Amino acid sequence: MAPAVDNAWNHTTVLLNEAIDSLVTRPEGTYVDATFGRGGHSRLLLSRLGPQGRLVAFDKDPEAIAEAARINDPRFSIRHQGFMHLGELPPASASGVLMDLGVSSPQIDNPARGFSFRNDGPLDMRMDSTRGQSVADWLATAEQGQIAQVIRDYGEERFAVPIAKAIVARRQERGPLATTAELAQLVAGAVKTREPGQDPATRTFQALRIFINAELEELEQALEAALQVLEPQGRLVVISFHSLEDRIVKQFIAKHSREVVDRRALFAKPAPLKLHALDRIKPSAEEVARNPRSRSAIMRVAERTAH
Ligand SMILES: C[S@@+](CC[C@H](N)C(=O)[O-])C[C@H]1O[C@@H](n2cnc3c(N)ncnc32)[C@H](O)[C@@H]1O
Repeated sequence: MAPAVDNAWNHTTVLLNEAIDSLVTRPEGTYVDATFGRGGHSRLLLSRLGPQGRLVAFDKDPEAIAEAARINDPRFSIRHQGFMHLGELPPASASGVLMDLGVSSPQIDNPARGFSFRNDGPLDMRMDSTRGQSVADWLATAEQGQIAQVIRDYGEERFAVPIAKAIVARRQERGPLATTAELAQLVAGAVKTREPGQDPATRTFQALRIFINAELEELEQALEAALQVLEPQGRLVVISFHSLEDRIVKQFIAKHSREVVDRRALFAKPAPLKLHALDRIKPSAEEVARNPRSRSAIMRVAERTAH
């Protein structure tokens, strides 16, 4: 049975109108919301579709799936799968693919999910709590070098090595870390210079979350899959929340929208372009004031060509 949705934790959708305005060009088309969350984008999208329009949504989180069950609309369906599975949809069948990356507010705010260094809870951080390894399980056996690499590469954390050392020392002395507060406290002891306005554990938590959910690998796979399922003139709209994600999206769009001249065959016809880059949009000052979690968002919009 799907878990009950606790309405105490809400998600304020970021770039709601901007994303749907950029995505929907054909009300009778089929659209993909690759990150349903609490359905903010999906609900507005459905309101813009005609009777023949379709919306296929994805989310890894069983709580998002339970929320989607409240949408009673024959044009809508949801899949409890990672979004790289969107490649299983028929080729060139979608008029738009939307990805609103990262975690939802209910995931961060619910201490039981283990994403938060502010509210103590089990050290979990899995977006799909029905499968895979939790952060606590991974940190219980991972080698120090591996831990340091994850924290450095995915958190861009200068103190990755001392943090990894502290995690392994603590494991040897008192057993593995079990809660988010234990990890946050340990990290605070290992981080020597604090960034203004930022908790010392921010980077480490970001890194472990990205790693345990394979976020960047799945994003790369989903972008390739989106290219297959978009029809000509179909729109790709991706909202990212940190530079590692945005770099992948930016480079992916650039790779498919810039002519690359093969230096070994200067007079050969360049490879056909698969995307046109259309837009890069950030939340307005008014949106950031209303919803501070939107401050780091960057939305990129591209259009599929006919090739
Ligand atoms: C920022 S929230 C989306 C919020 C949504 N647009 C709304 O308006 O309510 C991101 C969602 O994507 C989901 N998610 C993250 N990575 C995923 C992946 N690889 N596959 C499927 N869902 C994913 C998370 O579980 C979360 O619910």
